[in-house]
Amino acid sequence: MNGTAKIRQKRSTLKLTSALAQKMHLDSIRLIQYKNYEQAHVSFSPQVNCFLGDNGSGKTNLLDAIFYLSFTKSADQAQDLQCILHEADFFSIKGEFHKDSKKRVVLCAYQAGKKKQIKLDDKPYKRASEHIGKFPAVLIAPNDTDVIRGASEDRRKFFDAIISQVDQAYLNNLIAYNHALKQRNSLLKQFADQDRFDADLLEPFTHQLIDLGSKVYKVRKAFIEQFKPLLIEHYSVLSNEKEVIDIQYESDFEEEIDQKFTNSLKKDLILKRTNKGTHKDEFVFLMDEKPVKKFGSQGQQKSYLIALKLANFDFLKNELGLKPILLLDDIFDKLDDHRIEKLMQMVASDAFGQIFVTDARPERSISIFEKIEQEHKFYQIKESQVEIRETK
Ligand SMILES: Nc1ncnc2c1ncn2[C@@H]1O[C@H](COP(=O)(O)OP(=O)(O)O)[C@@H](O)[C@H]1O
Ligand SMILES: [Mg+2]
Repeated sequence: MNGTAKIRQKRSTLKLTSALAQKMHLDSIRLIQYKNYEQAHVSFSPQVNCFLGDNGSGKTNLLDAIFYLSFTKSADQAQDLQCILHEADFFSIKGEFHKDSKKRVVLCAYQAGKKKQIKLDDKPYKRASEHIGKFPAVLIAPNDTDVIRGASEDRRKFFDAIISQVDQAYLNNLIAYNHALKQRNSLLKQFADQDRFDADLLEPFTHQLIDLGSKVYKVRKAFIEQFKPLLIEHYSVLSNEKEVIDIQYESDFEEEIDQKFTNSLKKDLILKRTNKGTHKDEFVFLMDEKPVKKFGSQGQQKSYLIALKLANFDFLKNELGLKPILLLDDIFDKLDDHRIEKLMQMVASDAFGQIFVTDARPERSISIFEKIEQEHKFYQIKESQVEIRETK
């Protein structure tokens, strides 16, 4: 076989793999007493779905219910109790998915004061965390810039959510780490309250944190190396290559972690909490070598955020072999024409699978989506009722 033939063969194998990639979409959703919806049953297009309605009508809440089916929690940090329709005492969200040519039913239900239930095809999970990554989704809400402007915890949460969807062992280690951290902190507090110190009692927890933390560190470090080129590529497309961006991962685990714990012991005892570990990791977002958080304009921060989310989408798509559901909340309001155009080019190019979009201005969305070939459905939301809206 000569060189060209070899390459050709390689190309066709690649095509075959992408043709074999799993397909997934949400067929329908049924809500009972979720946020503003007393009852709703909506069937969706496997391609583009657009929720139209005035502000406050419930567009974001419907998107949030779809998010819930993927992540087993609301996107807006609301506690489950706050997601129950006012005056009611439980909610349920049932989603009928199509995945790998099979129908799969996800049920999330919560009753005030009880443990929430997550079921797949009527079978309850032992732990909700087992569900994570099975029906992946990415939410882009340009207004929610916490990941850029917020505390380091917001960035850790962002990346942990991505990694957890492809790596169950990582999620388990993270949960175990946080558990050990809680125990170590409460022991430090006990020592302070009782004015005593027992090194032998503290040691096992320190050891656990170092052991689990080093696993978390290694995965985060390898992940960032994979994630970085995706991020850089998306930013340069969105911004017309105006600035050079980068991302830096900083962790106590880079060197001498045992020594760091030993040196920090006095401080830990005074502050009654653990001051070293992966719960202190930081991800620094850079633009032309300066932190975006401090020096980026609003527009640059928004581009960075969208690039992070699109890289998030690509990473999951590559790792899971299927296109996550894409949830776009109010993007047309918050992005300029250039960025909307780039996003729509991606929509039209088949880069995405199923998409859900919200917009308070119907004419705008209708004219944008009429230009694309993908099947699209419009829904009108009014007084907590969702109806198909015909456009012709
Ligand atoms: N638990 C709840 N029970 C009843 N109504 C709720 C609940 N949570 C939120 N809402 C209502 O939902 C409405 C906001 O819906 P939202 O989806 O954010 O609107 P939109 O995105 O269309 O602007 C608000 O009127 C709010 O009071
Ligand atoms: Mg909204």
